[in-house]
Amino acid sequence: MQETRERVLDGLTDGPVTGPELAERLDVSRAAVWKHVEALREEGFGIASRDEGYELVEVPEFGGAAVEYGLEAPFDVEFHDSIPSTNARARDLAGEGAADVAVLADEQTGGRGRLDRAWSSPSGGIWLSLLVRPDVPPAHAPAFTLAAAVAVTRAAREAGVDARIKWPNDVVVAGEDAESDDGERKLAGILTEMEGEADRVSWVVVGTGINANLEPAALPSEARPATLLDEVGAVDRRLFTQRVVEAFDELRADPESVIQAWKKHATTLGKRVRVDTPAGEVVGDAVDIEFPGTLVVDTGEERVQVTAGDCE
Ligand code: BTN
Repeated sequence: MQETRERVLDGLTDGPVTGPELAERLDVSRAAVWKHVEALREEGFGIASRDEGYELVEVPEFGGAAVEYGLEAPFDVEFHDSIPSTNARARDLAGEGAADVAVLADEQTGGRGRLDRAWSSPSGGIWLSLLVRPDVPPAHAPAFTLAAAVAVTRAAREAGVDARIKWPNDVVVAGEDAESDDGERKLAGILTEMEGEADRVSWVVVGTGINANLEPAALPSEARPATLLDEVGAVDRRLFTQRVVEAFDELRADPESVIQAWKKHATTLGKRVRVDTPAGEVVGDAVDIEFPGTLVVDTGEERVQVTAGDCE
């Protein structure tokens, strides 16, 4: 959001204020205040004009300005009603030199998942890509995927959903039998993309697809998705997105702390797993996760460190 507009919005938060008072407080003209109030109304903010002055009476349900309003993390939010892919848009922004941008959409028409799969993204979900420029070597990039998984899990648990993390990057809702994967359903998936040189990352785009306020019928059955509507009813997408961005921001400041947070919510550890890796299948007990996101599998004969793969 434009800086003066943000200051006008903040000025309206503390109760009624007249245009001249606000203009003086912000050191801008009355015309500028009026222009920003009108623009905020167009973005869906309810701003009443009373004798005592302007008063903020309603915040829009979703959107860029809505998510930025009260967001306690230094991200600009770029919102699209419909876009092919927020990750593709974030990559374009990276090419233009941008940093700390959250690209958010109500609908994606060409959403992509891992392994070049399509990612169904109808209107109502939270389709979010965070563009960051961390000062880390490329080998540390997986920690940002884990950070996003922890961030979504925390937000979901705050919303009353029993969300857990399945290595490497799925947020799932535990099934009836928490000891097995039976009935485990996918609430969110993460696709991380990056560019960099041998010793340093240039940018990382962490794309997160959250099946928030979707009717289950809107999603393909083969994805076995959970939806928050299913679990707890409709969630406030504005607050949910804010919690995700804020938690991600906190975790990225200390990527090594992500592992502890990840383990706390992991569903994979302690289970028998079969991991399809680029080097072949690894079967055994998932015994640990090490920085920056390596799964340690005890096959009975040896401990294998798995850095990438699909886990069953
Ligand atoms: C997965 O395969 O589990 C990862 C899915 C990631 C989907 C998200 S939705 C927002 C962002 N934009 C995309 O095109 N993909 C990611």
